[in-house]
Formats: sequence, structure tokens, C-alpha cells
Amino acid sequence: MTRYGFIGTGSMGSMLVRKFTGSGIIAPADIAASSKTGISSRALAEKTGITAAPSNTAVAADADVLFICVKPAEVRSVLEETQGVLGQEALIVSIAGSVSLANLVKWAGPDHRFVRVIPSVAAEQESGISLVAWGRGIKPEDRALVLKLFNAIGTAVETDEGNFDLYADLTSCAPAYISAMMRELASAAVRTGTIEPPLAEYLLRETLIGTARILDNDSTGFDTVITRVATKGGNTEEGVKVLEARLPAVFDGVLCATRKKRQATAERLTGKR
Ligand SMILES: NC(=O)c1ccc[n+]([C@@H]2O[C@H](COP(=O)([O-])OP(=O)(O)OC[C@H]3O[C@@H](n4cnc5c(N)ncnc54)[C@H](OP(=O)(O)O)[C@@H]3O)[C@@H](O)[C@H]2O)c1
Repeated sequence: MTRYGFIGTGSMGSMLVRKFTGSGIIAPADIAASSKTGISSRALAEKTGITAAPSNTAVAADADVLFICVKPAEVRSVLEETQGVLGQEALIVSIAGSVSLANLVKWAGPDHRFVRVIPSVAAEQESGISLVAWGRGIKPEDRALVLKLFNAIGTAVETDEGNFDLYADLTSCAPAYISAMMRELASAAVRTGTIEPPLAEYLLRETLIGTARILDNDSTGFDTVITRVATKGGNTEEGVKVLEARLPAVFDGVLCATRKKRQATAERLTGKR
């Protein structure tokens, strides 16, 4: 029987626990979790039947697989705190952005095996991508286990850690980007003074869901949807032309901003700032 520990039960940690237990891939009895205040872990335990542990060390001491689900700035202290009690055979799964495998090794010690995963809130709907990068010494059974878990709540994509930042913009960040773009389209409609915000949001949300369902078909790509709707000489084509003229600079700016922020966070975490 594999024992799972979760340190951090905020937005992502609790989502993973809910989805892993809800999908039946992990039995609630096999999970213990802790959080800073204990409030979120106790609430999660009540909802899912897992155990709310009294401390991070209690979680780590009992874990074969330890999920680190705290903010990047907290990872070091959590790993140092649990170093003495975590079994040498334990696998550490960190979902923290900007915390490299090299830092995980430095902070938890070289004896463990590590994997980094960048999940997406889309896993809430058993879809979306979890990026997975393996550390040194990973065993075939670790790989099989982690892929089984994340494929149960979406799709796991294995990649080199060096690709994480860019790919994360297209996976874990993208739900926010897509929603921000839709909000701006709704706001533009509201600025015409002829539609109320709730109706504009409702119309767009339903359209977005329908578009995602059309795209949920291997043979349908973005270009196909655009060609189907923005027919030559039609009204939509004019709108798409505006987007094609202005959005490249916008998205170059988005990727540049997130790259800078990640670099700054990584430098702060490694003490370069
Ligand atoms: N949000 C996303 O879409 C997303 C996507 C991919 C990866 N991530 C990564 O996931 C990680 C968690 O993000 P989040 O959005 O879930 O953050 P969050 O909602 O703020 O949750 C953070 C959790 O960490 C707990 N915590 C903080 N310090 C702790 C400590 N010293 N010991 C034990 N628990 C501690 C907090 O406890 P309390 O509940 O008591 O405050 C909380 O449960 C981050 O590293 C982020 O980079 C997030």
C-alpha cells in the first residue's frame, strides 16, 4: 500500500486531493495532509475522508510519496523542516512553479527522488495538461505511478524541465489568459452601452464552452474554427483581422512578462537577489 502525503492544501493541493480521491485512483485512507494554519487541511479532510495531520513532519514521516503544494517561497522551509523524518525511499512530487529540480535536491538532500509537476486548474474537469519533469534516479515504478495519477485527472505531458516555463504559459496559466481575454471582449460589448455585464458574460461563457467542445475533436484545430466562422467577405473576418494585427504584440508581451517574473522568483529563491 502506498501512503501519500500532501503539504499545502490551498487551491491546487486541495484540488489534487479531491480529484485523486474522487476518481478513485487514491483511497482517502491512504492520504494525510497538512497546511500552515490547519484550517484548509481539516476542511479538506471533512470533505474527502483523508486524514488532517497535526504537522508537516507527521505527514512526511508517513509518506511514500510526498506532494509539496505550497507557494514557491515556502518550499525551502518545508523541505528543510521535513528532511529528518522523510524516509529515504520517499518520492517527492513538487508542484511549485519556479523551484528547480536542482533546488529541490539542494534543500531536501540528494538521497530522495524528485519529480516536478505543473498541474492546471483544468484538472478540476478531468481535462487539461499536467507538465511532468523527472529528476535524477527516478525509477520506472515512480514514472508509472505519477503518470497514472495525473492521467486520471487530465493528460500528463512529460518534458524537459527547461521547457516548463514556456509550456506552463500554454497550460497552467492559459485558463487565466483565456478568461481575461473573454472578460475584455465582454467589457468592450458593455462599453457600447447596449448590454448589461451579466448577459455579456453569459453569452460569451456559453460560446466558449461550445467552442471548446468543437475543439475537443482531434481533427479540429483553431484554424478550422476560424475558417468556419470567419467566412471570406463576412463580418467576423473583419474582427479577426483586428485580432491578427494586434494580438501578436500583446502575447509577445504576455510571455515576456511571465518570463521576467519567473526569472526574478528563481533568482530570489536561490539567493541571487
Ligand atoms: N494556482 C495554479 O493554477 C497553479 C498551477 C500550477 C502550479 N501551482 C503551484 O502550486 C503551488 C500552490 O499554489 P496554490 O495556488 O494552491 O496556493 P495557495 O492556494 O496559496 O495554497 C498554499 C497552501 O500552502 C499552505 N502553506 C503555506 N506555508 C506552509 C507551511 N510552511 N507548511 C504547510 N503548509 C503551508 C497554505 O496553508 P493554509 O491553507 O493554512 O494557508 C495553503 O494551504 C504553488 O507553488 C504554485 O506555484 C499553482
